[in-house]
Amino acid sequence: MATLNWKDYLAKAAEVNAEGAVLLTNNGVLPLDKNSETAVFGRIQLDYYKSGTGSGGMVNVDKVTGIVDGLLEAGAKLNEEVLKTYRDYVAEHPYDYGEGWGGEPWCQEEMPLDDALVKKAAETSNTAVCIIGRTAGEEQDNGVKAGSYLLTNGEKAMLRKVRDNFQKMVVLLNVGNIIDMGFIDEFSPDAVMYVWQGGMTGGTGSAKVLLGEVSPCGKLPDTIAYDITDYPSDKNFHDRDRNFYAEDIYVGYRYFETFAKDKVRFPFGFGLSYTKFEISAEGRKTESGAVITAKVKNIGNTAGKEVVQVYTEAPNGRLGKAARVLCGFEKTKLLAPNEEQTLTIEVTERDIASYDDSGVTGHAYAWVTEAGEYKFYAGSDVRSAKECFSFTQNDTKVIEQLEQALAPVMPFKRMVRTAEGLSFEDTPLSKVDEAARRLEYLPEEITFTGDKGIRTTDVFHGKNTLDEFIAQLDDNDLNCLVRGEGMCSPKVTPGTAAAFGGIAKHLEELGIPAGCCSDGPSGMRLDVGTKAFSLPNGTLIAATFNKPLITELFTYLGLEMRANKVDCLLGPGMNIHRHPLNGRNFEYFSEDPVLTGDMAAAELKGLHSQGVEGTIKHFCGNNQETNRHFLDSAVSERALREIYLRGFETAVKEGGARSVMTTYGKVNDLWTAGSFDLNTVILRKEWGFDGFTMTDWWANINDRGCAPDKNNFAAMVRAQNDVYMVCADGESGSDNVIAALADGRLTRAELQRSARNILSFMMSTHAMARKLGEDEAVEVINKPAETVDDGAGDRVFLLDGDLTIDMSGVKTERNLDYSFTVDVAQLGQYRMEMTASSTQSELAQMPVTVFSMGTAWGTFTWNGTGGKPVTFAVEEMPMFSRYTIFRLHFGLGGLDMDKIVFKKIRPAEGTGLSVEDI
Ligand code: BGC
Repeated sequence: MATLNWKDYLAKAAEVNAEGAVLLTNNGVLPLDKNSETAVFGRIQLDYYKSGTGSGGMVNVDKVTGIVDGLLEAGAKLNEEVLKTYRDYVAEHPYDYGEGWGGEPWCQEEMPLDDALVKKAAETSNTAVCIIGRTAGEEQDNGVKAGSYLLTNGEKAMLRKVRDNFQKMVVLLNVGNIIDMGFIDEFSPDAVMYVWQGGMTGGTGSAKVLLGEVSPCGKLPDTIAYDITDYPSDKNFHDRDRNFYAEDIYVGYRYFETFAKDKVRFPFGFGLSYTKFEISAEGRKTESGAVITAKVKNIGNTAGKEVVQVYTEAPNGRLGKAARVLCGFEKTKLLAPNEEQTLTIEVTERDIASYDDSGVTGHAYAWVTEAGEYKFYAGSDVRSAKECFSFTQNDTKVIEQLEQALAPVMPFKRMVRTAEGLSFEDTPLSKVDEAARRLEYLPEEITFTGDKGIRTTDVFHGKNTLDEFIAQLDDNDLNCLVRGEGMCSPKVTPGTAAAFGGIAKHLEELGIPAGCCSDGPSGMRLDVGTKAFSLPNGTLIAATFNKPLITELFTYLGLEMRANKVDCLLGPGMNIHRHPLNGRNFEYFSEDPVLTGDMAAAELKGLHSQGVEGTIKHFCGNNQETNRHFLDSAVSERALREIYLRGFETAVKEGGARSVMTTYGKVNDLWTAGSFDLNTVILRKEWGFDGFTMTDWWANINDRGCAPDKNNFAAMVRAQNDVYMVCADGESGSDNVIAALADGRLTRAELQRSARNILSFMMSTHAMARKLGEDEAVEVINKPAETVDDGAGDRVFLLDGDLTIDMSGVKTERNLDYSFTVDVAQLGQYRMEMTASSTQSELAQMPVTVFSMGTAWGTFTWNGTGGKPVTFAVEEMPMFSRYTIFRLHFGLGGLDMDKIVFKKIRPAEGTGLSVEDI
């Protein structure tokens, strides 16, 4: 039996938290002196943001260690009066969850600071630590607004008062992505550190850095510019319908280092330490590229780690090149003062090549290295990295010849670097006949045999081939196999996002197991309320620049998934931080595709060591939340290949990814769920991907030029996007597929190809081992006992029309949960009424928070009602999953529940949400 030791898991995550903290300024105020008193300001000190919002943040945890908890647990001396004042304030101004999906506010209301309190605190406290918190997420981009990218007046007032009274002021940013740093000029803090959103152990790790147990060694995964309008994507980012990626390959530091060095406040890769390092690097040419060796010496007085980043500058030839491109990085071990270590960074020719999407080099649709001088820079950030080696190549070389794929269809101008500097040119457009290309790739049909008695066990044990098994599947079987079921399918672990594989009765009879998918990039989301581990967010993980450490952390997550019978995590999220306001940046890693790809590969390695899979998402171009279901990303083929696909390519080729999720939106005017070039040509033919691909949840699909349709499974299968996520019921197939088979728009062979992708993946999962009764159990030790009610699976109520659930007798003690499942016959919008009474005093407050599928839909507070029933209602509750799980969280006892009533308002269209819902 394998063992997951929760304590070790917590310790590993806290190590990651500490290594991901990025110290940007420090006038010697950090580390804090543990024995002298510190006053902590900012209400988020008690409501730590463990992650952003939406599916990537919905991990239920038993405890979140915020920054104050972390400091106290580490034995720091904190100003008690200030702490108590915040505690009282937070008790009276509880955390605001907002209402519904994407409804949580970007920040929580700040406590107005009393002058006298700050003044008095400064008399005894040596240093003030001010914490600013932010969240954002799915369906909710950040905004250039107070409370999001900008500070609120309340936060500014806090910083002003603290600055006026304290000699030493530290600002900590508990945020998902970078925010405006203008406050540095206004309030001159003595130290500023990004601690990001660190999951349930965030504060433990931050405390280690604040108190000097760990010397900071995190590096910025994004450039911090002076102004949001300085980012090259800013002009097009906000467009609701079509984002022209006019900045082309000049994303983040690639733009700033090439065209606008003076706009940078903190460069990519930057981060301070409590010690100092000397880096001396040299390089040499090899057959396959170059090797850089960097000697790193700790020349300070404290132990610490340093990151060596290697950048290349390719000759600005016929293809314009960015002045710097990251081509590799490594982190040292912990170096004691005077200790040194030599790091080796291998760079391949492909790492320094560019993609010619027009033929300007004479080699259209190829990765090329143009003739000229290749310079290499090594250092601890993009700006300070020094030239360490160069070589000259006499001729232009083709590194890899490909074919045009996924190119734009809309004309637009893109940024280029000419000999004179920044200019714009026409973006090369697609010349591909997609219908003809599909026919070229058409697979051969496996002749239908009917049931020959072959079961998956026979394939597993090598008695029969997979194709012999597939030959037995009729159209209906195949049609069911490309449907995922969810959310909260009772066929897999309760409260998860989807079941796929053997979810229809006949498929199950053939021995196909049901695979289980659960969100998300920073831990398992189990909507019944089951407690899981909440890991640091993607941006923090990237900031560690520490690949082996991330592999270790994800090995624990892999074990936890095994213990919960989860086969595919719906993460890592690996879209590029194209613009600081993207709401899901917190789930993603960086503005740089090399860092992104390497970090995703490191996570996958950890998961794979436990035989579970990570789903790399969102493939590709999911870089804005506003109007995400309909938004088109118009991107050049070069930018796609060098920036937006590059990380995915690394995750497939080096990380061995075997599960991919496409996006909600369009790339070059085609919804990705039906994009043949993306899913077949690039992913499978070019990269050699041999896993399976799923859509995002209730995604749109179309045929080029046609309207989107959630039921267009034929287009999905033709593209080789194998599974539609999610259908209310996996039992019955889609009419669309049968009709398309009948009129020749889809071939049986294409359905069989998806079946092969799904089933060959399934063979290697724990789901298969479970089916065979051969799965090794995982024992979880040292995990706090669960207090959660997990009865949702037993309490299932059929909602067909209206429904009344008798709630009398339900226990309502402090911090208790009550969960139940509603089996929704007709998906749609419902009104939910809750009736309860209380004989407590009129002043008693008994809050009940309603969660549906893990999302809070409001907190309703009953006072004493003199025993009379009082009803509260959620006016519009979308119920778009056949099995919709509800959880009521009781803040206090004393409430007598009576009933819950659901009334239908209007039905949803198609397989999932109606257009109005999204
Ligand atoms: C998100 C995905 C997520 C899925 C399932 C969608 O809204 O975009 O990233 O995995 O839901 O929860």
